[in-house]
Parts: sequence; structure tokens; C-alpha cells
Amino acid sequence: MSVDFAKTPKLELHLHLEGAAPPAFIRALAKRKGVDLSGIFDEQGAYKYTGFVDFLRVYEAACTVLTTPQDFHDLTLAVLEQSAAHGVIYSEAFLSPDFCGGGDLSAWRDYLAAIQTAGATAEAQMGITLRGCITCIRHFGPEQARRVAACAQETAGDFITGFGIAGDENAGELADFIYSFDAAREAGLGLTAHAGEWRGPDELRAALKHLRVSRIGHGVRAIEDPALVEDLAERGTVLEVCPGSNIALGVYRSLRDHPVERLRAAGVALTVSTDDPPFFHTDMSAEYAGLHRSFGWDQPEFDTLAQTALRAAFCDAVTRDTLA
Ligand code: ADE
Ligand code: ZN
Repeated sequence: MSVDFAKTPKLELHLHLEGAAPPAFIRALAKRKGVDLSGIFDEQGAYKYTGFVDFLRVYEAACTVLTTPQDFHDLTLAVLEQSAAHGVIYSEAFLSPDFCGGGDLSAWRDYLAAIQTAGATAEAQMGITLRGCITCIRHFGPEQARRVAACAQETAGDFITGFGIAGDENAGELADFIYSFDAAREAGLGLTAHAGEWRGPDELRAALKHLRVSRIGHGVRAIEDPALVEDLAERGTVLEVCPGSNIALGVYRSLRDHPVERLRAAGVALTVSTDDPPFFHTDMSAEYAGLHRSFGWDQPEFDTLAQTALRAAFCDAVTRDTLA
């Protein structure tokens, strides 16, 4: 019997807002807008994809029906309701201006206002705090990333607290994004980069050297280089580990094969998140239950996860104090 960790308080630092869209939510929008998205769902109504690159295609197809600020308001409420039901008290969500209303970045402030309004409602009604980490998309290239970084610079503040990069890790090189990360750092934003999910240890090194991030999205393939693991532990670099995502996308075959326990035992600072929960048939309670079942993680390990996430969160000190 699996233990229910739904009530254990959790902080989630790696959740893509659009990637958390329930399939039924996207289907309803598609129907209302007369868009045929039937090809991206299986017979059970779940998202259907064949591997990572196809996952990105389906993800982007789902985003095509998120065309108005109201859609993002409703999406944010639906996502936070799910998160709160699994004990999440703080969610730092990746927000991608590229996926807001067909990528018209001039309307970004309107989308952001709608997301923020929904966040405030969720906080009042469900006790979950939302902050945003603006995320550029690697396979859209460095020029587009500069424009997204400009959105981040313009809206950095109490709510927009971070800047990151997601998308296809095999597209281009992280060094091409130095300009965008420098701009975000100058705006006072915390920095994180997806790295070490599809490429090996050198990609984490590139994120640290060129983008000077304090956190790494996934980062699990650091395990292939013991010297890097030692370095991460010494620096206190925080990995946003998403075991269910890695297994669903085929980075590892099973949780038993996943390096999360070896990274923890080596002293690497870890947090645990869901990435894109409906795509991977996961949620935060399921992630905790899996870690309990496979590695015997229990309250002490979960307390450490929460403390690490609190320290690594990009929110301001006042917000952090309210969560402690
Ligand atoms: N965007 C959403 N999920 C992602 C993942 N797992 N890797 C890279 N980009 C993503
Ligand atoms: Zn991600």
C-alpha cells in the first residue's frame, strides 16, 4: 500500500505553467475556439507523445489554444488548485512569454497581470503562494531569448523573481545565451537553467560557467562525473530534480535506476518537482510516495527537501519568512 503524502507541506521550484495544464482544460478551450487538437490526445484523453522531441511538439500544440490573458488566469487557478491538493504551499512556476497568445511579447504584461491575479486568489482561498520565473526556450534561439529577457527585465519584482531556460537541450549551446542571463542577473533575478537532462556533465559545467546559475533544472546526469558531483556539493548548487518526468521521458528506466538517492547521499542540494505533471501522470504526492517506496525517504528527508527549496527559492526574504 502506498503512503499518502498529500498533507506533507511542499515547495515546488520546477513546474511549467503551461505544461501543468490538465488535458481536459486544453480540450475544452480547443472546443470553444474551434481548434482541432484531437491528434495530441490518446483514447483515455491523456496527452500522447512518443519521446522528448515529440513531447515538445505536443506541448507547443496545446499552448496554441491559450490565446488570451483570461485563458492564463483560468489555467493558473486550475494548476494551483491541483498543486494545493497535493500539499504545495509555494510554487515557483516557469512562465514562457513565447507561449502566451501566440508569442506576441508586446502583450506580456497583460498575461502576467492575469496570472498574478489568479495567484493572489489562490493564495487567499487555498493558502498556496505563487511566484514566476520567466523562461526562454532554447530551440527558439538566442535572439528570441534576448527579447524574453527584456520581458523579464521589465517585469522583475516581487512576483517575477527568476529567469531560466527550457526547451530542447540539444539545440545550440548555453554560451549563446550569456547576454540574456547577464541582463536577467542585472535586473536582480535568480537564475536557473535546464541542463543535464539530455546532455551530460559538460552541460552542467556550461550552465555554471557561462550562465552563472545558482540552480539547475534536472541536472541529474551530473552523476556520470564524480568530480562534478563533488563540485556541486561544495558550491551548494541546487538541483531541481523531477524523477517522474525523467522516467516518463525515458532518461531513466525506473525510479530504482534514477540517481536522486546517489546525489543526495553525495551531499548535493536537491529539491523535487513534477515538471509537467499531466504529461507525466504524476503529482507531488506521487513523487514523494515513490521516493518513500524506492529509497525509504521519510519525514527527515522531506524536511530537508523543504529547507533546501526554501533557501533556493528566488522570492524575497519577507515571503520566505512567511513560508518558514
Ligand atoms: N519544457 C517543459 N518540460 C521540459 C523538460 N522536461 N525539458 C526541457 N524543457 C521542458
Ligand atoms: Zn522543466
